[in-house]
Amino acid sequence: MAVLDQLTSQQAIDLENKYGAHNYHPLPVVLAKGKGVHVWDVEDKKYYDFLSAYSAVNQGHCHPKIVKAMTDQAQTLTLTSRAFYNDMLGKFEKYACEFFGFDKLLPMNTGAEAVETALKICRKWAYEVKGIDENEAEIVVCENNFHGRTTTIISFSNDSVARKNFGPYTKGFIKIEYDNLEALESTLKNNPNVAGFLVEPIQGEAGVYVPSEGYLAEAKALCEKYNVLFIADEVQTGIARTGKLLAVNHENVTPDVLILGKAISGGVYPVSAVLANDDVMGVIKPGNHGSTFGGNPVAAAVAMAALEVIRDEDLAENAHVLGELFRSEMDKYIQTSNIVNLVRGKGLLNAIVINDDDDSDTAWNICLALRDSGLLAKPTHGNIIRFAPPLVMNEEQLMDCVGIITKTLKAFEN
Ligand SMILES: Cc1ncc(COP(=O)(O)O)c(C=O)c1O
Repeated sequence: MAVLDQLTSQQAIDLENKYGAHNYHPLPVVLAKGKGVHVWDVEDKKYYDFLSAYSAVNQGHCHPKIVKAMTDQAQTLTLTSRAFYNDMLGKFEKYACEFFGFDKLLPMNTGAEAVETALKICRKWAYEVKGIDENEAEIVVCENNFHGRTTTIISFSNDSVARKNFGPYTKGFIKIEYDNLEALESTLKNNPNVAGFLVEPIQGEAGVYVPSEGYLAEAKALCEKYNVLFIADEVQTGIARTGKLLAVNHENVTPDVLILGKAISGGVYPVSAVLANDDVMGVIKPGNHGSTFGGNPVAAAVAMAALEVIRDEDLAENAHVLGELFRSEMDKYIQTSNIVNLVRGKGLLNAIVINDDDDSDTAWNICLALRDSGLLAKPTHGNIIRFAPPLVMNEEQLMDCVGIITKTLKAFEN
């Protein structure tokens, strides 16, 4: 078989099964093309994408402006490494700092790398600014967090599948209940060595858990009171997904450290970033941190175009309006449903909770039926289905999707 031969779906699946590590459990569909809110499989069947590559493709598949920025830059200069300056990185850093309101940006590639970067910045700040004794710093994290897959990050996960047999684990983390301000305050009060609080403004992977109103603002105030950095992981919630540019904007919170990934590139290229002000980012000196590809010219060009699309197409507002519509339509359905317990979310980051045991395969079977009806979604933890379409969707398309979802769910009612 020549490498470029067109495969059938089954052939593509067989190849991955035979030659790929089995670290994912994909829905059986093989995608070959994407445009806007749609993707097509190798047999040319068209689907609505209701996952958006875990919220990386907020701007829609193959957005022409972002693809053009990438291809133009790729024909000019792709990579020089940070051993030299390049003429795109500074422009991107200025653009993003002004866009999000910070003094400085540190570019990386993946979300997990950006989280690791934020943890390193926080620890260095603890010793050099806050004055914690060396190796004693602690970072507070939340139960059921998802921040990526590196050894340090899984050290403070409580997902046994992600953790088991990957020890020994990295020390220096205290886990508290999410959305629990008393737990946060007592931890900060009783542990003077706490340097940071790392939090997802909405817990996406865990099943789209939206904290109580005021939680983020109160948590930020507690961090200020105890001189602790508030570190917002907006890798999934950021870049207009929840109906504001950042999910923390719903509560007018400015994090001390902001972590971005996924849609900062529109899903076209791996780009991630950590933003902070000078008093925090200033602890990073030459040799402390880096990445061969972090801040390369293609990444810089792509990220600027991707952010421009968010602003020019007013995607935060669209996510807000369509999100309200989606939840109200789903709520109407749920009133007479036995199979769905609830819908929750913000903007276009939503989930429905299926009325069945956590270890049943009902959510998986619903996703297979949705696929057959032309809509792609995937269960997240337990019996929860996350719905996160590209933010370039319009109202007519959304209502079409609501129709597909409710019709599919009806077939599962008992
Ligand atoms: C909140 C959050 N942080 C970090 C990550 C890790 O990003 P990546 O998969 O690009 O390493 C994810 C990925 O889903 C995420 O949702």
